Amino acid sequence: MLSDLVNMRVNSSDNQLSMDRKVAGNDAPFFAAVNIHKSFSNAKDRLKVIKGLDFVIEKAAKVAIVGASGIGKSTLLHILGTLDRPDRGQLLFKGQNLFVSSDDELAGFRNRNVGFVFQFHHLLPEFSALENTLIPGLIEGMNRPDAERMAAEILIRVGLEDRLNFRVNRLSGGEQQRVALARALVLKPAILLADEPTGNLDKKNSEQVHQLLVELNQELGMALVVVTHNMELAELMAHRVTIMDGKLAVTD
Ligand SMILES: Nc1ncnc2c1ncn2[C@@H]1O[C@H](COP(=O)(O)OP(=O)(O)OP(=O)(O)O)[C@@H](O)[C@H]1O
Ligand SMILES: [Mg+2]
Repeated sequence: MLSDLVNMRVNSSDNQLSMDRKVAGNDAPFFAAVNIHKSFSNAKDRLKVIKGLDFVIEKAAKVAIVGASGIGKSTLLHILGTLDRPDRGQLLFKGQNLFVSSDDELAGFRNRNVGFVFQFHHLLPEFSALENTLIPGLIEGMNRPDAERMAAEILIRVGLEDRLNFRVNRLSGGEQQRVALARALVLKPAILLADEPTGNLDKKNSEQVHQLLVELNQELGMALVVVTHNMELAELMAHRVTIMDGKLAVTD
């Protein structure tokens, strides 16, 4: 069943982004969202959530997106992660224009370059910590021993050396969230996007995961963008931004 799942995802993600789509240049920003617009249709009208938003994220940045419920934080994070397409606007990764790519190409881009952590972990509960964590490596075409080795390394790094072969549904909430973090980081993504990563955890487990996020941001040199209502986590980031009138606003 695990291999079926992997094959399914491999088939939908094995295209490389083609080089001719590079708009390149050495001075291209690391990661930039340019003039993003996004609206949703309800029964009656159209709700404009993001209205011409620009956002430049530097390499190894640490940014919190904060603010009231419903202002569009998750909507923005999904667009930054290419999980959702904007109505208008561009996303540039090292000068590469991402939204001209097909859905399959974007799936490949995400697997290689973007790690996601959500409030609910979305792990496969019947599979072990190790199996959950090695999936991104298999999708990238690694052989199983290499994928296992990388998965074990990162699981050990997040403090789960004694839990590698435990089924995820036998782990505590904090342990499950650390598996989710390991799975997000196993291929050493350029950017980690987290949406309320500790929204479900108690204070002690939250603090552990917060600390890990900050340490791994430094160790791996990956940019970290975290949506949160948790002010302790927001304060650990170098910058805090919010969304005001559909545009990005720096809060301090
Ligand atoms: N798929 C959708 N269809 C219709 N409306 C949507 C959809 N996704 C989001 N919205 C609406 O867009 C607005 C922004 O939603 P979003 O989830 O981005 O808010 P948020 O800032 O993340 O809030 P929270 O802090 O509660 O998670 C909300 O009013 C929401 O109802
Ligand atoms: Mg949200």
